[in-house]
Amino acid sequence: MKRIGMLTSGGDCQALNAAMRGVAKSLFNAKEDVEIYGFLNGYQGLIHGKFRLLTYADFSGILTKGGTFLGSSRTPFKTIQDIEADGIDKVAAMKQTYYKLQLDCLVILGGNGTHKTANLLREQGLNIVTLPKTIDNDLWGTDMTFGFQSAVNIATEAIDCIHTTAASHGRVFIVEVMGHKVGFLTLNAGMAGGADIILIPEIPYDIDSIVKKIQERHERGSAFTILAVAEGAISKEDAALSKKEYKKKMEKYKYPSVSYEIAEKIRKKSGLDVRVTVPGHTQRGGSPCPYDRVFASRLGSEAGKLILKGEYGFMVGYKNREMVKVPLEEVAGKLKTVDPKSSIVKEAKMLGISFGD
Ligand code: F6P
Repeated sequence: MKRIGMLTSGGDCQALNAAMRGVAKSLFNAKEDVEIYGFLNGYQGLIHGKFRLLTYADFSGILTKGGTFLGSSRTPFKTIQDIEADGIDKVAAMKQTYYKLQLDCLVILGGNGTHKTANLLREQGLNIVTLPKTIDNDLWGTDMTFGFQSAVNIATEAIDCIHTTAASHGRVFIVEVMGHKVGFLTLNAGMAGGADIILIPEIPYDIDSIVKKIQERHERGSAFTILAVAEGAISKEDAALSKKEYKKKMEKYKYPSVSYEIAEKIRKKSGLDVRVTVPGHTQRGGSPCPYDRVFASRLGSEAGKLILKGEYGFMVGYKNREMVKVPLEEVAGKLKTVDPKSSIVKEAKMLGISFGD
């Protein structure tokens, strides 16, 4: 008999349910008896002992459903070892729940922050297997995370819709794309949506270069320009500031997000009409795309394989088109970012896309 705990932590995304279904089906279909306990709302469920025993029926009919049927929450790693006002020692409480239920392993689905806590729990002696979830695709140790392709689809559709109205009105449009501190989502959606300018955190922008590109397009007869701007995009001047200086500057920041700052700068320099569209959390919502359904199911199945073999302390990842197991200590605390020298960036530039650099 194997007793497994399962939780989803951090911002949700598409295919979380598909991934959990993959783990559960691969375990339920194995010869060994398995019990799966689902913790509610991420690490909070583990801390406060909020769980329920899941049955085969819980995993049925959820392949196509977005969100997570277990619920999720953010439990910041930064304060995970602090005893806060409620007096709860969170790490001790998680260990207590784990041992009380006599779990053999915890399956944790999450992104960067989640992996730091997962690794801490591993260091504390718990058996952990994780799955790489995030629309940002910024997890180290895997070429792909589930949720990413679905979010690319949604962000691309947003750019597609903006394209037609931008063309009709001859306007400059900014579509702000999620991705936290990395540009994978913006780069891919921007290319798929035919954006003329793509701004990502890894390539700080120069506003004059952006305006120049817009003017060049005008001169060539294109009255409209589409910018795909990552929510973490940063100007060359801001990138040159120290952390302290940047923090100070941001205390007085007057814009709702970076896109509005860029829009105002373009307006001032060019006199053009600039509009901003922020699809925001729609990028994390709705059904997983077929790629994610297959990918998450495969990851889940691989996790099931590790659990059945008793191989713990790994994230299941995807490298060079192969499923791989990556030691958690290698994943935790590292960020995967877009390499400005990568071939995709070079290819995009050859297509005439400006990165504002
Ligand atoms: O990490 C996923 C993500 O959607 C990022 O792209 C975004 O910056 C962040 O989460 C938003 O977080 P929240 O849902 O807490 O506002």
